[in-house]
Amino acid sequence: MTVLAAGIAMGCDDVGSGLPVVLLHGFPHHRALWASQLNGLAAPVRTIAPDLRGFGESESSGPTSMDRYADDIAALCDQLGLDKIVLGGLSMGGYIAFAFWRRHRARVRALVLCDTRAGADSEAGRATRDELIALAERDGSAAVADRMLPGMLGRTTREKHPDLVESMREMMVRAPVAGVTAALAALRDRPDSTPTLSTIDVPTLIICGDEDVLTPVAESRAMHHAISGSHLELLAGAGHVSNVERPAAFNHVLSEFLTQLTSE
Ligand code: MLT
Repeated sequence: MTVLAAGIAMGCDDVGSGLPVVLLHGFPHHRALWASQLNGLAAPVRTIAPDLRGFGESESSGPTSMDRYADDIAALCDQLGLDKIVLGGLSMGGYIAFAFWRRHRARVRALVLCDTRAGADSEAGRATRDELIALAERDGSAAVADRMLPGMLGRTTREKHPDLVESMREMMVRAPVAGVTAALAALRDRPDSTPTLSTIDVPTLIICGDEDVLTPVAESRAMHHAISGSHLELLAGAGHVSNVERPAAFNHVLSEFLTQLTSE
């Protein structure tokens, strides 16, 4: 479905009823990243997966930022009548979850941080974002997809599930260039969320594929140490999109966390 929020049409899936769980995709994905979670969670939850501004069915309008993406999600929650949510994000979705926490923390019941990191880009990382912006403008989203794809899925998936590699490429290739370039600039300029970690005082689940090379396990361990009471789960044989690569294991871990929340 499409919802008008924050002045743009936003694509969104909204499945089930119960505790609202909003799942934010990474870069350069769209909401179908969460296809295996939408009907796969064994917990009494309402699962909402939006397309971020400029991706999937969501409109794009000029420059953006992690704050702006976060405010879009708050506006979407208003439109859907959601007060408190469990907010989950994968990679860039996690960076947005940190911004959402800083700006809208009263709305956050719990956090799920998947294959993400708290730190900002290094100088080299920022230069790579600029290179990718130029590449997208010159050669389109397929060129960016092909540059990122080798790091997106783990070694085990690349060896054993080439079908998943291909479907991930298809998703990345379809990302609109305007959305891709705006997101790359927002990724480049995002703040360091490390100081935010010690302010998080809601239940937090951290999930990471043990073959993730884009946001390696060390990043998740560091977040785990800095977020008091957080829970860390490593998924064996999964890379950066651990929810796609090991959907059953991911859903099991997430369902247990959500079931515990609903029984409190
Ligand atoms: C993502 O999956 O969202 C990206 O890898 C994030 C990033 O490039 O920092």
